[in-house]
Amino acid sequence: MLEQIKNIKSLDELMALHSATFGKTGTMTARLKDMKNLDNDARAALNAEVAAMRDAFKAAQEELENTAMLVALAEQKLDAADTSHQYQPPVTNGKLHPLTQTMSEIAAIFESMGYGLRTGPDIEDDWHNFGALNFPEHHPARDMHDTFFVDGGNLLRTHTSPVQIRSMESDGVPIKIFCPGATYRTEMDATHFPMFHQVEGLHIDKNVTMSDLISDVKIFLARFFEMDSVDLRVRPSYFPFTEPSIEIDIKWRGDKWLEIMGAGMVHPNVLKNVGVNPDEFQGFAFGAGIDRLTMLKYGYNDGRKLFEGDIRWIKAKGF
Ligand code: DAH
Repeated sequence: MLEQIKNIKSLDELMALHSATFGKTGTMTARLKDMKNLDNDARAALNAEVAAMRDAFKAAQEELENTAMLVALAEQKLDAADTSHQYQPPVTNGKLHPLTQTMSEIAAIFESMGYGLRTGPDIEDDWHNFGALNFPEHHPARDMHDTFFVDGGNLLRTHTSPVQIRSMESDGVPIKIFCPGATYRTEMDATHFPMFHQVEGLHIDKNVTMSDLISDVKIFLARFFEMDSVDLRVRPSYFPFTEPSIEIDIKWRGDKWLEIMGAGMVHPNVLKNVGVNPDEFQGFAFGAGIDRLTMLKYGYNDGRKLFEGDIRWIKAKGF
């Protein structure tokens, strides 16, 4: 019997033999029931036999279970090159921020029109942000810019116009540039954010006129909004750094006029402030809000959306 147990090749067979031996109607069960009729020696012999059989069953079971486990492990051996069992997370591509995308579109258009890209610091001094741009000290025009002041008498630039000044200081004239970047004002509602973005244009040469300005703005807006042509309306306005100053509106979706940028002929004082002779050189400047251009192009009216990082909204808008 012990030999038989030892030679069994499967767990099922072993269990079957075990129940045929120790089960309710098992051979050994029957003999154990009869034990009371045995003398002491026979009883001891039977006990020893039972103990030996139990040990044999246990050893055989362990052996068979071990073998089964080894077989299972061999079957499940991991093939590192086979990725079919692995969890594959859904792949989504990261994208540039919508405003960064818009800024690159804007940059591509201006560069194709012969404008060079210039940038300047976000933290400015009073001279570049205001003084050189012909904002006299204590002039009410400064109040239109709700300014963040920082330590040391500096400020966060309230517009991209100081880049005009820095660029003329470093490059002189003639000059034809565009300057995109972040700008800051202490305001906050659905269409105003403490940080927003502008693009500034500047073209100074010997024969640059207001009609060059209108023509370039038309080309830019048509390409940006992917329209065949755009209708513009020009209204008189006031900026300290331009004379005359205008506000340019675009005819939107066939019916209403939307204000799209400020512009004008660069004020002689601004040119003088950067050492340019206004009798010899003249030209135009313009400044547009990039956040607003993006809102119009992609059709939404809460500018804060761009900074909330809500991935569902960003996807729905197709950015
Ligand atoms: N800097 C002006 C602003 O932030 C915008 C602007 C208007 C810029 C007219 C210009 C300009 O260059 O000519 O409100």
